Amino acid sequence: MSDSSLRARLEALRKQLHEHSYRYYVLDEPIIPDVEYDRLFRELQDIEREHPEWRSDDSPTQRVGAEPLSSFSQVRHETPMLSLDNVFSEQELRDFDRRVRGRLDDGQAFHYACEPKLDGIAVSLLYVDGVLVRGATRGDGRVGEDITHNVRTVDSIPLKLQGEGWPVELEVRGEIYMPRQGFEALNMRAREEGSKTFVNPRNAAAGSLRQLDSRITASRPLEMCCYGVVASDDNLFSSHSGALAQLKRWGFLTSVELAVVDDIEACLAYYEQLLSRRDQLAYDIDGIVFKVDELALQEQLGFVSRAPRWAIAHKFPAQEEVTTLRDVEFQVGRTGAVTPVAKLEPVFVGGVTVSNATLHNLDEIERLGVKLGDTVIV
Ligand code: IVH
Repeated sequence: MSDSSLRARLEALRKQLHEHSYRYYVLDEPIIPDVEYDRLFRELQDIEREHPEWRSDDSPTQRVGAEPLSSFSQVRHETPMLSLDNVFSEQELRDFDRRVRGRLDDGQAFHYACEPKLDGIAVSLLYVDGVLVRGATRGDGRVGEDITHNVRTVDSIPLKLQGEGWPVELEVRGEIYMPRQGFEALNMRAREEGSKTFVNPRNAAAGSLRQLDSRITASRPLEMCCYGVVASDDNLFSSHSGALAQLKRWGFLTSVELAVVDDIEACLAYYEQLLSRRDQLAYDIDGIVFKVDELALQEQLGFVSRAPRWAIAHKFPAQEEVTTLRDVEFQVGRTGAVTPVAKLEPVFVGGVTVSNATLHNLDEIERLGVKLGDTVIV
């Protein structure tokens, strides 16, 4: 590709990614699956890596999220809520490990904490003197929305801390999500009432938190799993896993899947093990997060613009993909019932190649508004 067409591609990618992140973060109406977003993002990252002179502060690669909605009051995160870099293969994970070791002293022993990457909404909780005083969304990472009234309705979020020894100010971060069972029940009810259903548990959780009326939020089956602390007292913890154990004692839900391991081989084994149990979990996860467990080493490793150098998200293979609708055939069953079947451009998703999909009936086609040649999500 010539420089000028590469430059045009870069601009187009930035524009698209800005739009998709606005739809995803602000409007809560994504029109492409996460994998497609990740792919565009990586393409942009690759171009920017090849042409450092084209880097720009306003590129989607340089920012963490999007502007908050204006109908909620805003909250400034004193410590920005950052994102995680993603890897998609064993090789990329090994590269991450090599970079970590390369930045530490020769032979420095350390551990990795392994935990599921929950597919929900990142939330910050602030406690003063052991009392919940504020809940906020991530927003663009620096400014989020005040959702205190809503987080108070989530059963697994302590309103007052248990035990003892917490700092005067304690900020806890984690993910609010909707367990699958609750999601199915919610959608079942919506179908019965003829109201709008949610696309997936993540969207249902986001929609439930973005409510001005907290009675609606209270009626939704939400949970919060905590994965980090921003403590005012710096010497409170020496390890990430130790901090999580303390959080549990103070009354927070933390992941039962947490494991602390010695090396990257064990991280890979953990990844395979949880991937094989993915469908049996009570909630959606989209990968594994590996973090250097020792907080002193985390500090030594520090951050790059968008993400910590001491952590990485190893994403699972996609369960959603995009493809094109080529044709629709009408199958006649034994009983004479006619079923429209979508003929798709074959696409590899969830471990199989999909080229057909049922469209159920004509009402469904109408509801979807799908037309030949459309880009569709499988
Ligand atoms: S740690 C600075 N741990 O993934 C590190 N994040 O892509 C901050 N997430 O915004 C994040 N599960 O919403 C961390 N066990 C976990 C997580 C997790 C889900 C989300 C979180 C974050 C996003 C980053």
